[in-house]
Amino acid sequence: MIEVRVKAGVEGKIKGFFPWVYNVEILDVKGSPKPGDLVKVLDSRKRFLGYGYINPNTKIAVRIMSFNEEEEIGRELIKKRLQQAFEYRKRLRINSNAYRLVHSEGDLLPGLIVDVYDEYAVVEITTYGMHKMKEWVAEALVDLLNPRGVYQKVSDYSVNIEGFEAKEEVLYGTVPERIKIWEEDLEFFVDVIKGQKTGFYLDQRKARRLIRDLVEPGDVCLDVFCHTGGFALSMKKKGADSVIAVDISERALNLGKENASLNGLEGITWVEHNAFQFLRKLEKEQRKFDVVVIDPPSFARTKAHIENALRGYKELCVRGLKLTKPDGYLAIFSCSFHITREHLLEVILEASRDVKRQVRVVGESFQDLDHPWILQMPNTLYLKGIYLEVL
Ligand SMILES: C[S@@+](CC[C@H](N)C(=O)[O-])C[C@H]1O[C@@H](n2cnc3c(N)ncnc32)[C@H](O)[C@@H]1O
Repeated sequence: MIEVRVKAGVEGKIKGFFPWVYNVEILDVKGSPKPGDLVKVLDSRKRFLGYGYINPNTKIAVRIMSFNEEEEIGRELIKKRLQQAFEYRKRLRINSNAYRLVHSEGDLLPGLIVDVYDEYAVVEITTYGMHKMKEWVAEALVDLLNPRGVYQKVSDYSVNIEGFEAKEEVLYGTVPERIKIWEEDLEFFVDVIKGQKTGFYLDQRKARRLIRDLVEPGDVCLDVFCHTGGFALSMKKKGADSVIAVDISERALNLGKENASLNGLEGITWVEHNAFQFLRKLEKEQRKFDVVVIDPPSFARTKAHIENALRGYKELCVRGLKLTKPDGYLAIFSCSFHITREHLLEVILEASRDVKRQVRVVGESFQDLDHPWILQMPNTLYLKGIYLEVL
């Protein structure tokens, strides 16, 4: 097996279970690795640190999958990791037939996301190394879940950064264009094949529950960046009188409308618009809402985008505060890896000062429990939500 020795001083963090080796941290490599090859990582004195896979063309050169010398990477390890991931999700007793089965580094399977929607699994592979293990993954999933179908989605990252070609395709069985799932007392259609990400924002399950806690029957609500209506339907189900749900994607909105009918929910107005412009329009019309949810896409994909992203969050926060009735609630989320909870709190504080609306924090949420994150990489806690009472 190819051996990668890291520079003196790097071993400390790997011994602390940090799962990446950057290319500048490599002392030397025994062998001539190709992207995705399996490697053994050693310290500068050739002592074992971990097993992983390498991509010599990327800044993150090695991703470690095992810190245990007895546990080499192979078909069996993939099977074992998937089994462990499954046992953990079973323990959670998630009130839905849709959940994240594998959350990359959080499940010691870097580069792999697996979401389960009823009897189907959707796989997203983002690294070359995991791409090479695709057959093992598919085989282990079939053994574990006995699904009707397994579908592969492809992210830009895999093509642009990792440099491998992959097709969005059925890996096993058959996969329908849309899958019906349930969560609590709601049903949703999920557009796995043409939808965003793997089709549904499973990570916001806990937030959907918290939002229900804040909505009172008769409330007038606003769901900004609504996608297929996760929050809008939850608010309506709790008894909101009306909900305006806005998104830029016609496809997502159409599915949102179908989701509303599927659940017999009326009174949601679906608006196809750029959210920033639409919020300005609502403000001009002096509209006010009891509960406002703002759940934008990631604005900061790299560290270089942080400043711009903060401007975007600030604007959303300012508009959200202005649109919230006195004693109403505003929930604002960030799913950007590089925006921390502290960033978000700072933005809220500034916005509150600027628009002269006092707020108090009544809650906070993160990605739900089926999306575990690791302390060594704080930005694996990518989803943050702050719930405010706006006085
Ligand atoms: C994080 S997702 C929202 C998920 C949603 N709240 C849910 O729980 O299903 C972000 C959404 O923002 C939409 N979007 C992106 N840019 C937009 C823009 N400028 N205006 C309105 N919607 C936008 C995307 O289509 C996507 O549905």
